[in-house]
Formats: sequence, structure tokens, C-alpha cells
Amino acid sequence: MDWEIFFDIHKDLPRQGSGRDEYTQKAFEMIPKIKNPKILDIGCGPGLQTIKLAKLSDGEIIGIDIHQPYIDQLEKNVKKHSLNQRVKTINKSMFDMDFQEGHFDIIWAEGSIFIIGFEQGLKDWKKFIKPNGYLAVHEMTWIKNNPPKEIYDYWQQVYPAISTIDKNLKIIDKCGYKILGHFALPEDAWWEFYYDPLQNRLKDMKVKYMNNPEGLELIAEEEKEIDLFIKYNKWYGSVFYVMQKKS
Ligand SMILES: C[S@@+](CC[C@H](N)C(=O)[O-])C[C@H]1O[C@@H](n2cnc3c(N)ncnc32)[C@H](O)[C@@H]1O
Repeated sequence: MDWEIFFDIHKDLPRQGSGRDEYTQKAFEMIPKIKNPKILDIGCGPGLQTIKLAKLSDGEIIGIDIHQPYIDQLEKNVKKHSLNQRVKTINKSMFDMDFQEGHFDIIWAEGSIFIIGFEQGLKDWKKFIKPNGYLAVHEMTWIKNNPPKEIYDYWQQVYPAISTIDKNLKIIDKCGYKILGHFALPEDAWWEFYYDPLQNRLKDMKVKYMNNPEGLELIAEEEKEIDLFIKYNKWYGSVFYVMQKKS
């Protein structure tokens, strides 16, 4: 993967994956109300959900990510919404977190736990959550059994760790969390803030990279992801899991 081209394609998109404010809110409302919660948003990206979390709560939110241009994008938004007092960003990897143990009431991760792995993330992040605190993530998941071969093979190639809701619920229990609720993000969570702007960007990038085989290959891969989503989104998607640490 040529990351320079990848980040050129993905630069300044409103989101870097599926999601919408209303689904951030739906997941957030599964958590009992906490006064001034301390929230960590892991893999915040450009951070539309970080801003939404700040608006839904009266707490302090820290967004961490390793791609500085996404963090800069979030910082701009923080200023625009006058949230500087409550939203902080840190350029930090999820593999290298050194927060105080038991510091956060809530850990949030939209579309980013796959980077460390669903089970590993649940295990590693638990120590940073207060006793009886909360973890909310959404993760690419099979939502219907027996997917057609074309889409099954595709996911085996790009993310073989993709699992089913039932298996993830078992992992949640095994890792010492109680599930408060889960739901698949509806198809509209993919379009307005991610695939629509990405499709427009791909049109421009085809011109920019017309003489660059690596660029054209990456563009074709992104187009394939969107085409397969249109064809097969009944079988898979992002599923929000909202859970409570057992102690
Ligand atoms: C699919 S995007 C989701 C971004 C954001 N949550 C959203 O929904 O728009 C995954 C994010 O994880 C970030 N990321 C990748 N590796 C990371 C790491 N090791 N630690 C923290 N963030 C990472 C990427 O830069 C990207 O912003």
C-alpha cells in the first residue's frame, strides 16, 4: 500500500469510515447518564463523533490518532464549535497508550478497533476504564449467515478477522464486559459522510494519477469496496457494541 497516495485520496473527507451523529447518539444513550464523564475516543480521525460526544455530554473528551492531518481537521472543528475547553487531541497510537489506569468513564472507538483486533482491544483497553465504566465500538461484522462467495472471499482477503455478532458477543462476555446493546449501522451511515465524498474524490484522483499505476490500483480497490458494498451490504456492515466493564 502506498500510504502517501492513500492519504491523498482520503484527505479532508468528513469521516474516514461509516457513521452518523444520530448513531453515535443512539449508542451513547445506551449508557446511563454520567456527570462530567472522562471519555477517550481512540482512532478519532477527523472526529465528527468526537464533537458529537462533546455535545451529548458535559464531559472531557480526548481524541487520539496517529495521522496528524486528521487531528488538525478535528482541531479546526473543535475551535469552530468552541469546545477547546473540553476536547483535547493527542497524536498517539492505540498500541502505545500510557494513560492512568481506571481513568476513563467511557472509551469510544468508531471503526478503529480492527487495527488492534476486536478481542485484543477489549482486553488491552479495559485497564484504562473505571470499574463499571463503559466501552462503545463499532466493528465490521457479518450480519447475515452464509454470505455469497464473492463477498466472503473479499473479506477473507482484506480483513480475515471479520466475525459474526454472536461470536463478538461471546468475546465481550469472555473479556469481562456486560453487553448493554448492539445494532448494525444502517446503510445511510455509509453514504453521506464517507462513500459519497469518497466517490467524488476518486473521480478527481483518476485524473491526477492517470499515469501512476499504483495510484490507479488503489483507486480501483476503493471503487471495488464501494461496488461490493452496494451489492452485498445486507450481509455485512459496521455493528455498534455498547458494553459495561464488569468490575
Ligand atoms: C476507519 S478510520 C475511523 C476514523 C474515525 N473514528 C471516523 O469514524 O471517522 C480509522 C482511524 O484509526 C486511525 N489509526 C490507525 N492506526 C492507529 C493507531 N495505531 N492508533 C490510533 N489510531 C490509529 C487512522 O488514522 C484513522 O483515523
